[in-house]
Amino acid sequence: MLIIKKGDLVGDQISHEDIAIKGNKIVKIAPDIQATKDDTVIDASNCYVFPGFIDAHTHFAMTNALATTADDFSTGTKAAILGGTTTVINFATPPASGSLIEGFNQALDKARDVSSCNYRFHMEITQFGENLESEIKMMKALGVSSYKVYLAYAFRLNDGDIYRTLAAVKQVGGVLGAHCENGQLIDVLVEKYRNKGALSPASHPLCHPAEIEAEAINRLAYIGKMVDYPVHVVHLSSQLGLAEIRAARKAGGEITVETCPQYLLLDDSCYHLPGFESAKYMFSPPARSLTDQQALREAIINGEIQTIATDHCSYNYQGQKTLGRNDFIKVPNGIPGVEQRLPLMYTLFDQTAGLGPVELVRLLSENPAKLYHLYPQKGILAVGSDADIVVYQKNGEFQITAENQAENVDYTPYEGFRVKGQVKEVVLNGVQVVKNGQLILENGGIYAK
Ligand code: URP
Ligand code: ZN
Ligand code: ZN
Ligand code: ZN
Repeated sequence: MLIIKKGDLVGDQISHEDIAIKGNKIVKIAPDIQATKDDTVIDASNCYVFPGFIDAHTHFAMTNALATTADDFSTGTKAAILGGTTTVINFATPPASGSLIEGFNQALDKARDVSSCNYRFHMEITQFGENLESEIKMMKALGVSSYKVYLAYAFRLNDGDIYRTLAAVKQVGGVLGAHCENGQLIDVLVEKYRNKGALSPASHPLCHPAEIEAEAINRLAYIGKMVDYPVHVVHLSSQLGLAEIRAARKAGGEITVETCPQYLLLDDSCYHLPGFESAKYMFSPPARSLTDQQALREAIINGEIQTIATDHCSYNYQGQKTLGRNDFIKVPNGIPGVEQRLPLMYTLFDQTAGLGPVELVRLLSENPAKLYHLYPQKGILAVGSDADIVVYQKNGEFQITAENQAENVDYTPYEGFRVKGQVKEVVLNGVQVVKNGQLILENGGIYAK
């Protein structure tokens, strides 16, 4: 057996107990479990012991019209596991005019045998085909029940097709997440700023104002109400968007909400950096004002936001972001962050009255596990649950820098941030894969059905 001793276990409350693991499951939780000579012991003194964290929003190995992400499954999942994320839910894009199954198989091929944390997929619906309903039923048998639609970008769905997609997802009891920004309005603003010759990254937030997010959330919420089925808003960024969520809930709508570390820690001053540096912060929706940041933090304290995921979508500054040196719309959108989510959020929660380790588990592990039907195998430390476990050293401080990161990208938007504690040991599927902060076993990840 593998025994984790002397740690503080975090769930709905904190308890000082030991955990015994056999095979890939937790078999016992009790004070002072005695180890025999055949057992391996992990010392968790002065550490929190967390259920493995789930990052339900990553884009590894994604290719769009502008570029291919810097992280594939090999590098992205190494960064994830070193940062305490034991399961990622990555977005899978079906090929143009291909089926969901094809898209799913391509995604599996990219992840299989090269992933150092567990993985599963959300399927992106970028066009509504006549067969979508039956395909969604077939996908359920393969363990896929979550989908994403975009209200922005060239591959956005129109409102009627979002309605149809949600109705099809409802039939299988699945989850529909949506990128909520009004794509038509973004296009008009992009044209306006480009015609004016305002071609630097400073134009990016001007083309994605919070109104554009709020309007799309409003529309999605009404579609949800008409289909009589919950909807999930990914990467909520603004106070105005939050107001729409509150209004919809007040009117009886069921909405779950994800936000990301970038909306809690970065602000729109990053669009006024010298030279071309602001390109490093081009992601959508963009970083907002400090008022927005504060509103989202309060919404977490109030329980209005259910999950925190990264939207990790990494592009190198040199050679990828710089493609847009003369025109901001040629900068590929997205930022890295899968590796730093836990230390950043641990530190923020530690500094925020009303938040702490219990809430950290809720937003980064338990709630995503529940939303995506992985609970109670994941998202909780309990007898019978999967032995995906993170031992986090409570004290000490380190400074984030791109030089030391495992992410395969030449910068981090969190450069210089000081964070508290650090990931010390990680157990994945019952096997210790991170020891004293070092990855000792690669490619141990499996498809999390
Ligand atoms: O800028 C971003 N977030 N890129 C990734 C794709 C998305 O919209 O989630
Ligand atoms: Zn203790
Ligand atoms: Zn998105
Ligand atoms: Zn995304």
